[in-house]
Amino acid sequence: MNIKVLKDYEELSQTASSYIEHQVKKNPQSVLGLATGGTPLGTYKQVVQSYQSQGIDYSGVSSLNLDEYVGLDKNDPQSYHYFMKEHLFDHINIQDEHTFIPNGKTESLFEECKRYEGIIDEIGPPDLQILGIGENGHIGFNEPDTSFESMTHIVDLEVSTRQANARFFNSFDDVPKQAITMGIGSILKSKQIILLASGERKAEAIKRLLQGPVDEQFPASALHHHNQVTLLVDQASYQLIEKE
Ligand code: PGA
Repeated sequence: MNIKVLKDYEELSQTASSYIEHQVKKNPQSVLGLATGGTPLGTYKQVVQSYQSQGIDYSGVSSLNLDEYVGLDKNDPQSYHYFMKEHLFDHINIQDEHTFIPNGKTESLFEECKRYEGIIDEIGPPDLQILGIGENGHIGFNEPDTSFESMTHIVDLEVSTRQANARFFNSFDDVPKQAITMGIGSILKSKQIILLASGERKAEAIKRLLQGPVDEQFPASALHHHNQVTLLVDQASYQLIEKE
């Protein structure tokens, strides 16, 4: 695993966006694996700025998002569909029909998981996958104890995950209890992965990722099974390593 320790969130976001831009310039038909949550917001802001200043062309790019809440319509402001449009898709020239996100509001969630994994195989795997990490080590919404071989599936969210995400909702009770997520096996199909972590809140998870065992209790540790992973961390999230 390559590790880059950046000064702060700003530098982390700039570095992450430069990975995306480099990939898209190298191959204008790239498939990007995208994440939601607080961490990639700065990255997407930078991508939009570079798009505006340099005119990077996203018209041939496709994207696959990691996950979506169950029960939220794609026009719901709390949905990840909405998040992606608000923070990225509406501001660059990616084609709507080239963007893929699981549908969390459907009669048959099981069929939706199969359909989505099929899309990953058809248009993917991502040339570059962006990941965040949960305090409990989750990647996508793969909570502790998820099989490293898992494909897209439905997950019961841990209370701690719902609490962490409650900041995006009016109240904790509004946070959905389930989500559809690409599995760990689906994520590991990506050709290259960058995992972003920022802030003291993530320091324990980064320590465990780098110094703990590889096991299904800590989903991000599966990344040790992939040979093209770069960890982009700021000093705050790396602080427990530097103190060793
Ligand atoms: P965050 O979430 O970026 O909002 O901290 C990361 C995650 O839970 O995967």
